[in-house]
Order: sequence, then structure tokens, then C-alpha cells
Amino acid sequence: MRFLTAGESHGKCLTVIIDDVPANFEADIDFINDELAKRQQGYGRGGRMLIETDKVEVKSGIRFGKTLGSPICLEIKNKDFENWTERMSSSPTDKEFEKILVPRPGHADLAGAIKYNQQDIRNILERSSARETAARVAAGALAQNFLSKFNITGSTKVLSVGGAVGDDIKDKIDSAKEKGTTLGGVFEIRFKNLPVGLGSHTQWDRRLDGIIAQAVMSIPAVKAVEIGEGIKASEAYGLDFHDEIFYENDKYTRKTNNAGGLEGGMTNGEELVVRGYMKPIPTMKTPLKSVNIETKKEHDAHFERSDVSAVEACSIVALNMIAIVLFSEFQKRYGSDNFEQIKANYEK
Ligand SMILES: Cc1cc2nc3c(=O)[nH]c(=O)nc-3n(C[C@H](O)[C@H](O)[C@H](O)COP(=O)(O)O)c2cc1C
Repeated sequence: MRFLTAGESHGKCLTVIIDDVPANFEADIDFINDELAKRQQGYGRGGRMLIETDKVEVKSGIRFGKTLGSPICLEIKNKDFENWTERMSSSPTDKEFEKILVPRPGHADLAGAIKYNQQDIRNILERSSARETAARVAAGALAQNFLSKFNITGSTKVLSVGGAVGDDIKDKIDSAKEKGTTLGGVFEIRFKNLPVGLGSHTQWDRRLDGIIAQAVMSIPAVKAVEIGEGIKASEAYGLDFHDEIFYENDKYTRKTNNAGGLEGGMTNGEELVVRGYMKPIPTMKTPLKSVNIETKKEHDAHFERSDVSAVEACSIVALNMIAIVLFSEFQKRYGSDNFEQIKANYEK
């Protein structure tokens, strides 16, 4: 399974094309919409999330509720587009619109404007915006939907925001908002009931830990990924860290799961545990110093409506990105053409 997304933050819509989805599995569109709603939630989000109520429209690949094996195209409308029709028009225009000329440190603005030779940073930020992750969540929710038919389920948890935990998180976000600054944080994703042997030790690009890290790291603002107790592992003795193997009731078991469910780049039958570390949101009411790309003079960084913190939303994106990886690996192991064949291979 692979997917591509298209769409600008204030464009007409976001689109995702998901290829290589097996035929004959019941796609639960309500589940996809529920995941999209979860991505919009969380304390500290900006005003945009009040405008949008993300819902997918199925454009192709599903008939009478079941997948056809053909590419699935899903579309999510941007409600905010009605306020941007002229500014985001795809037709040529003689109208002048105010350009964004001051890049935000920590965003794609400066490198993007140089790389794509743009004089208006809007042409970069429209696509680098994390609004794109809504399309990923739609694809990931379909993957979760498929995995759930095999009792494989995922969950998310925010562990900390700006170092604060539990009830202190809201206060920390409130105080950041007051100061015109932002916060990142740490989230954890877990997947249960994975079969042994997804991924492989045989090639560098088949190791599942590497594939998962890439998927999670590709989410805007995620700057570190941890599998199991990977960070503590660097300071631990081997005798204290590795998960001893036992055999009970006709199966291999472990009493600990420091490896987070992966050994040798493969699932080992234990729960998959992945943590993501998100940096603070780069758009801030109290601006950092930057430079006007036209005049090259010092200027306050650009500000427009933005989240103060989005760790919870980010965790939903990560859950769905990991679901896509697991779905894809599941197909490699058990087949990819139709649901019945995959089920038979799985139950063998
Ligand atoms: C769910 C989510 C929401 C985000 N919301 C914002 C936002 O409102 N404003 C902002 O400047 N960055 C936001 N970001 C982060 C930026 O998209 C990201 O920092 C930027 O694209 C640069 O990429 P990098 O941080 O990976 O270098 C968000 C990220 C995620 C995952």
C-alpha cells in the first residue's frame, strides 16, 4: 500500500490517493471521519480548527461499502477556502495580494522560498502547513480499519507538553499562550496483537524500526523517535535491558518489553511502543528576529493564525502513519490482492 497527498492549506481541498489496497474489505467511512475529528482536537489549537469539520468524500475505489482493489481517492474539503477563493485561485490574475516576505525561523519558509525560487512565502507555507496531515490521517484510518479486522488496534497518549505532565499541561499551554510563545511535547503510540515477523532483518530498508522512524519523523515538527525504551537503553547494562524469553502455554512470552515489540527490525509479538518528540510550533505571536527576503533588512518573523501546541493532534497523525506502515508490512507477509486470500494466509 502506498499513498500520495495533494492540496494547499487554504486551497479547495486535500486529496489522498491510496494505491494497492486489497479488494473486498469493508471500509468504515465513519471511522475515518472520527479519526479526522480527533486530529482536530486537543488543548492549545488555533482558530482554524474551529472553521473546519473534516470529513472525507470517497471519489473512487470503493463500491457498496467495499474496496475494489483499485486506487482509492479520498477528498477533504477546506471550508476556509471560501475566504480564500481569490487569493488561492489557480487562474492567472492582475490583482495584487499582499506577499509574505519574512520567513519564520523553524518553518519551511526560507529554505522553501530559495529552493523553489518564490518571492511570496505563501507559495511555500500553503503546502508545508500541517493541514496536509489531515489527508495522511484519512489514509491511515483506512489502514487502521483494515488492521482491526485482524484484531490489531492502536492507541495514543500525550506524555508531556513543554515538560509538563498530567493536569499541569493545560496551565503550561495557557502560560505559553499568554507569553505569545508555543510548546512541543512527547507522545506515545502503542499497537496490540501484531503477528510476529512484520519487517525483516535481511536488508537495511526492510527493518521495521527504521521504516516506523521515517514515517513518524516525516510528520512536521517531530524531531526524534524512540522505539521502546531506546533512550534509556543507551545508559543501561545489557543484563538489565534485554527482554528474557520464556515459553508458556504453547507460546513464547516475555516479562518485560524494553525493546518495544521490535527485535532485528521485526515485530516479535509484544506490544509495539513508539514515542515521538515534537518541537515547539514555529509560528509565534511574540516574533523572533528574521529578515525580509526582498529588502534583506531585519524584520519580525511573520505571524498568522496558529496553534500554541498540537501534541495531541500530532499523536493522532503518528498513530495513523504507523498504521499505514503496519498495513503495508502486513500485506507483504500475507498477500495484497483480496481480503479473503489475506485472511486465509493469516489463519494458516
Ligand atoms: C498537528 C500539527 C499541527 C501543527 N500546527 C502548526 C501551526 O499551527 N503553526 C505552525 O507554525 N506550525 C505548526 N505545526 C508544525 C509545522 O508544520 C512544522 O514545524 C513546519 O512544517 C516545519 O517542519 P519541521 O518542524 O519538521 O522542520 C504543526 C504540526 C503538526 C504535526
